[in-house]
Amino acid sequence: MRILSIETSCDETAIAIADFKRGKNGVSVRVLSHLISSQTKLHAKFGGGVPNLARREHEKNLVPMLLTALRESGSKNQEPRKRYNENVFTSCFLILDSILTRESSLLVTFKKHARTLFPPPDIDAIAVTYGPGLAPALWTGVNFARALATLWHKPLIPVNHMAGHFFSAFLNESGMSQGENSIRHSIFYHLPTIKFPVLALLVSGNHTEIILVKKPWQFNILGQTHDDAAGEAFDKIARVMGFPYPGGPAISRLAEKGNAKNYPLPSPMIHSKDYDFSFSGLKTAALYRIRDITGSVSWQTKAKLTPKQKADIAASFENAAINVLVKKTIRAAKEYKVKTLLLGGGVSANALLRQEIRKAIKEHLQPTTYHLPPSNLTGDNALMIATAAYFCNHKSAPDKVRADANLRLEER
Ligand code: KG4
Ligand code: ZN
Repeated sequence: MRILSIETSCDETAIAIADFKRGKNGVSVRVLSHLISSQTKLHAKFGGGVPNLARREHEKNLVPMLLTALRESGSKNQEPRKRYNENVFTSCFLILDSILTRESSLLVTFKKHARTLFPPPDIDAIAVTYGPGLAPALWTGVNFARALATLWHKPLIPVNHMAGHFFSAFLNESGMSQGENSIRHSIFYHLPTIKFPVLALLVSGNHTEIILVKKPWQFNILGQTHDDAAGEAFDKIARVMGFPYPGGPAISRLAEKGNAKNYPLPSPMIHSKDYDFSFSGLKTAALYRIRDITGSVSWQTKAKLTPKQKADIAASFENAAINVLVKKTIRAAKEYKVKTLLLGGGVSANALLRQEIRKAIKEHLQPTTYHLPPSNLTGDNALMIATAAYFCNHKSAPDKVRADANLRLEER
């Protein structure tokens, strides 16, 4: 099954084309194109993702990225180019006018290149992220996918972004092939047969959730954050210390050199019996620590700290956040006797989190299979959307697909 997937939920425009094949020991994936255009530098000026800026950039990126993906994947139909008469394009333009009413600049580029998109490519389905995320950003991807599915008469599979992060953990890189014919080169991944029940800790810039999956693909949210997501808290502390958005990676690099004991911080809700989290209190406690050192500080100012003080605060903040994430995840894994445990989402790139979960599994949870996304797939990408589409495979009529900024993983 060849899937073309589109991801525009936040500040990355991503398109992938991949072939999925089920075998005896799982599923093999051949990635023919994997494109990500990151806008984080543009959003950094504003300290976070700005919905309408994201929408504008997605509108600019989508058509050129699609053309590149089709070309480098060799998906352009090889049959001799049919001569389409102008009536075909007149009706094609009418369809585009009706679907892309609110994406005016995308509409212009789409029409300019519409002729090169026929005959329809060799793909079996189109997958698109329909939530959660920034509403204007999501709508751009959804309407683009609806237009393509309608014009090409291809099935459309709406995908939950968090399901994408979930499935990215199963992707193990298994090789690469040299380019052949018009195909540039392909990367191969292998997904093993999944053992249930599965427990997932999904941690990103907007979500912190513990998910239980007893059978395919019924997602059950055991716990979530009451306020800030873990990644959001990392980003806010980084900002006060003068690091650009998204500052999570900078905090974790800095933390390696710091001593957490110098400015101890609490792990909020670590003793609560549920599986919920709260990171707003930790974030404020860290801000007060900084104020104790510098005399004054607010979320809007950059604190004047020495490199040593920054490293110590970063280490203490990271320790407190990771501590509660690990403790609750392991407790849930024990309670539900899970056979598989995985991490997903942007914060799953965090080395301390990866290592502490591994250590805790060894100590408390033998035998449990532990899955992590490859380092190039922890952030937002479209391969994870294609993978979730392949497994969940809920095809939908294009006109029925709507973006849903607050979509939950339990809903379809
Ligand atoms: O999943 P993602 O790419 O986008 C969302 O869907 O939100 O997650 C981005 C988040 C940002 O908050 C970023 O700072 C955080 O992941 N992040 C990290 C690390 N790498 C990325 N946080 C802590 N440590 C890291 N190494
Ligand atoms: Zn994400």
